[in-house]
Amino acid sequence: MVRFTACIMAAGRGERAGGGQPKQLRLLAGRPVLAWSAQILADHPACGELIVVHAPGQREAVMDALGDLSARVRFASGGATRSASVRAGLAAVTGEHVLIHDAARPFLSAETIDALLDALGHAPCAAPALPVADALAREQDGEVTPVDRSRLVRLQTPQAFRTQALRDAFEAADGADFPDETALARAAGLEVRLVAGDEMNFKLTWPADFDRAERLMAGRGGAFVTGSGFDVHRLAPGDGLHLCGVFIAGDLCLVGHSDADAGLHALTDAVLGAAGLGDIGDHFPPSDMQWKGADSSRFLTHALELAAQTGLAPVHCDVTLICERPKIGPHKAAMKARLAALTGLRPERVNIKATTTEGLGFTGRGEGLAAQAVITMRSA
Ligand code: CTP
Ligand code: MG
Repeated sequence: MVRFTACIMAAGRGERAGGGQPKQLRLLAGRPVLAWSAQILADHPACGELIVVHAPGQREAVMDALGDLSARVRFASGGATRSASVRAGLAAVTGEHVLIHDAARPFLSAETIDALLDALGHAPCAAPALPVADALAREQDGEVTPVDRSRLVRLQTPQAFRTQALRDAFEAADGADFPDETALARAAGLEVRLVAGDEMNFKLTWPADFDRAERLMAGRGGAFVTGSGFDVHRLAPGDGLHLCGVFIAGDLCLVGHSDADAGLHALTDAVLGAAGLGDIGDHFPPSDMQWKGADSSRFLTHALELAAQTGLAPVHCDVTLICERPKIGPHKAAMKARLAALTGLRPERVNIKATTTEGLGFTGRGEGLAAQAVITMRSA
């Protein structure tokens, strides 16, 4: 099988999809669309090189969206039109074969990649194609003219090329714009071989496509797991306490072996729960002196690493703090930011809640503070 360079086009503005940001950066099942589409190409055994073309000024946002994958990626800055963006990406390609893919198609399958690579053995260009199911007509000023659909196909990406042939086609096009690279290749007289397209490999184009995509992701069996955690620490007079990784000054402290951050402990237990790895005491026994006074963010980070080794990444977390004092409200934003930084989640995927127990029980009497956490994790 030939090796290929994946060139992922992520420089568009996604105007039709709306959503307030380029569609390739929007989250789908908790992960940016671009990361999903890049991952499928990166995971293919024949993928030798990964290039992502981003809009000028969006390199950081795109790196952020790619997460760990960005270490494998080389970047190019795109242009105002898709053709200009592809040209910029192509300039960075070193491999002999290139697959040009829309970042906005996160449901690409390895089978489509295989078919394209196969076809490249027989022709300089290949593209996935699907038949047109609906009747077609042209409408102009209220006049409807049927169009014969019997010879029409819908072209998807990736579109695959022998790199030099595509370079030559761009050269011959002399700056002209094409809707896709197959059109460019045909204009240069290159033979294009069609392979079977895939209805699942649709392009996120309109707002409703995101709803469909979320439903499809949710239907992928066994992809999500949930863990819960609970922790209590005694409150005592003191000069401040740590909660959800944030220091709250005041006349109280939390008593415990480590820094007694009940919020982080509950969340750590939730992570271990999701990963089926027991509880915090199994991993950080209070009898072990190295954890005395420890910054509890270490527990959470370590639990997340262990979960990652089992293939789990966080998608969302929700922490509830139960106490009469200290007042949590003024610190919620800082806690959210801190937990987002520790988990790698976006702040909108982290939630902090606080409640009192109406003066009832140990929390009501101010003897202790309790924390509950739930985390949702996705298998990679
Ligand atoms: N693309 C690109 N550079 C451009 C235009 C588009 O890299 N100047 C990329 C998009 O990021 C997308 C793919 O080409 O992944 C397919 O294009 P399209 O669906 O049209 O995306 P957008 O141009 O972003 O969307 P819209 O046309 O709705 O604004
Ligand atoms: Mg467009």
